[in-house]
Amino acid sequence: MKGVILAGGLGTRLHPLTKITNKHLLPIYDRPMIHYPLLTLVGAGLRDILIVTGGNHAGEFLRLLGNGKEFGLEDIAYTYQEGEGGIADALSLARHFADGEKIVVMLGDNIIEGDIKRSVQAFADQPGGARLLLKRVADPGRFGVPEFRDGRIVSIEEKPRNPKSDYAVVGVYMYDPTIFDIIATLKPSERGELEITDVNNAYIKRGDLQHDVLEGWWTDAGTFESLFRANQLVREKKIETLTARLG
Ligand code: G1P
Repeated sequence: MKGVILAGGLGTRLHPLTKITNKHLLPIYDRPMIHYPLLTLVGAGLRDILIVTGGNHAGEFLRLLGNGKEFGLEDIAYTYQEGEGGIADALSLARHFADGEKIVVMLGDNIIEGDIKRSVQAFADQPGGARLLLKRVADPGRFGVPEFRDGRIVSIEEKPRNPKSDYAVVGVYMYDPTIFDIIATLKPSERGELEITDVNNAYIKRGDLQHDVLEGWWTDAGTFESLFRANQLVREKKIETLTARLG
């Protein structure tokens, strides 16, 4: 199994901060944002990791992360997304890297308190298909939102006006290699992007999508409010950990 971090985009919701850097290089308390998803994937046992980036500051990722020695890695793979095609378009660039293996994908602006080890193990044991992580949130309309029937997800809507549940689809996605054939069939949404939600709905139609509910807090960091909250959550966690260690 291999890991993919999506760290492209222009981060327009964070202008002017993102005029002079990539969103995923902005600080979250004491680390650049991209460190958090990298730590999550490495913590789940993934050693082959691809970073998909784009825009005007892509070269900075190499300077920051190099071959990932700091994270115990031997090397990191990088690729460049031309333009603004959306999450699924960015992911299509991972086909060659995935080379027929399952992948765990994490959005570069998602930060979680705990780890994803159990879900990744469950996905490794799954014959194929996809596996998502969900989290109950107060503002589901900002995210992909699942609709449930008898405990199973029957559809996902992207940023719905009238959410059918109070769960959000977290930006951690696990896919078998058929994902790349699914992406090839997608049409751009109204915002002109290939949507990850359309990929997930394709797996649902095939009856091939499992999910877990994530434990611990989760946040994205792509808006001023969520960026601020991410800083607060990481800071609180760090202080808690230090206090616990001091006993
Ligand atoms: C994206 C996805 C959405 C998901 C969210 C998680 O939204 O489209 O389904 O719930 O990430 O962070 P974006 O933040 O790109 O608007």
